[in-house]
Amino acid sequence: MACAKLLFGFLFKLVLLVFVLHHPANAQGLKVGFYAKTCPKAEAIVKKIMVETLKVAPPLSGPLNRMHFHDCFVRGCDGSLLLNSSTGQPEKNAVPNLSIRGFQIIDKIKTALEKQCPGVVSCADILAIVARDAVVLTDGPFWEVETGRRDGKVSSITDALSNLLPPFANITVLKTAFASKGLSVKDLVVLSGAHSIGMSQCAAFSNRLYNFTGKGDTDPTLDSEYIEKLKLKCKLGDQTSRVEMDPGSFKTFDVSYYTLISKRRGLFQSDAALLDDSETKAYVLSHANAKVGTSSFFKDFGVSMVNMGRIGVLTGTEGEIRKVCTKVN
Ligand code: HEM
Repeated sequence: MACAKLLFGFLFKLVLLVFVLHHPANAQGLKVGFYAKTCPKAEAIVKKIMVETLKVAPPLSGPLNRMHFHDCFVRGCDGSLLLNSSTGQPEKNAVPNLSIRGFQIIDKIKTALEKQCPGVVSCADILAIVARDAVVLTDGPFWEVETGRRDGKVSSITDALSNLLPPFANITVLKTAFASKGLSVKDLVVLSGAHSIGMSQCAAFSNRLYNFTGKGDTDPTLDSEYIEKLKLKCKLGDQTSRVEMDPGSFKTFDVSYYTLISKRRGLFQSDAALLDDSETKAYVLSHANAKVGTSSFFKDFGVSMVNMGRIGVLTGTEGEIRKVCTKVN
C-alpha cells in the first residue's frame, strides 16, 4: 500500500513536471500560447487585421507599437490605456497619449476576436501582439509574445502623467523610471530602438531647435546641420507637424536608430541621453553602422519587449476580460 502511494506520488510529480515543461509560465503567470486551446486563431486574426491596416495606412505602425509601451508603464500592461473613463479623466487624455492614433484598429481587432471566441482574449494581450506585429510588418524581428494578461478596470490621467516619460528626460530619469518597472539599463537602450520607426510632432523636440535654455538658443548636443534640416520642417511655434524620427527609413525597423544617435542626430533629448551613460553608450556605439545580420539588436529587442510585457500584469482571476476595449464590463 505504502509502495503504491509512493509510486502514485512519484507519477503525479512526473506528470506535473512534464506539464510545466510543456507549458512554461513565467513568474507572473503569462505564457506563450495561452490561447492555444481557448482561441487558437487569436494571433492569426490580429495579424490579418494588422496586415490589412498597414497596407493602407503604413504610418500607423508607429503608434500601434507605442501603445503597448504606454499601456505597460501606467498601472502595468492591463489595457488601461484603452479605457474611455466614465468618471474622471482617462489615461488617453494625458498629453503624451494625445498623439497616439489607431485606437480604432484595436477596437476592430477586439470585435473580430469577440466574434470568434467571446470573452476570451484580453485587450492588454491584443496590445502586446499588435506591438509585435507592427515591428514584424516593418521588416523587424519576430518574437513569441507571452499572453494571459487580464484587463484592469481603472484608467487615470494622473497615473499617466506621473509614469510616462517626457522627451526631455535625462539619463538619470530614464534609468530610474525603467528600474522602477523592473527593467534594466540594457532594456532602456534596446527598447529606445523602437524609435527606428514612426514619426514625432514638432512639440516633442522644438525646444532643441529654438529655445533650449530660454535664451533663444539651440541644443549643443544636437548636430547643427540636422538642426537646420529640422527647422525647415518645424517652423518656430509649429507644434503639430510630424517628422520622421529615423529619416529615410522610418517605415523600416532597423539598426539605423543607433547610427543616428552616434552622429548626434537623435531626435529627442531622451535619445541623445543614451550617450551619457557608459553602458547605454557602449550599446549605441557597438550597434551604430552594424548590418542587420551581424547585430544582436533584433534578438535583444524581442527579449526586452517580453520583459516590458511582464510589467505589473493581472493574471488568473484578477481584473477581467473586457468585451469592448474602451469600457469596463
Ligand atoms: C525611453 C523613453 C521614451 C521616451 C521619452 C519616448 C518619447 C516619445 C515621443 C515624445 C514620441 C513622439 C510622439 C509624437 O509626437 O507623436 C515617441 C514616439 C514613438 N515611440 Fe517613444 N519614447 C520612449 C520609449 C519608447 C519605447 C520603449 C517604445 C516601444 C517599445 C517607443 C515607441 C515609440 C514609437 C514606435 C514612436 C512613434 C509613434 C508614431 O509614429 O506616432 N518609445 N516616443
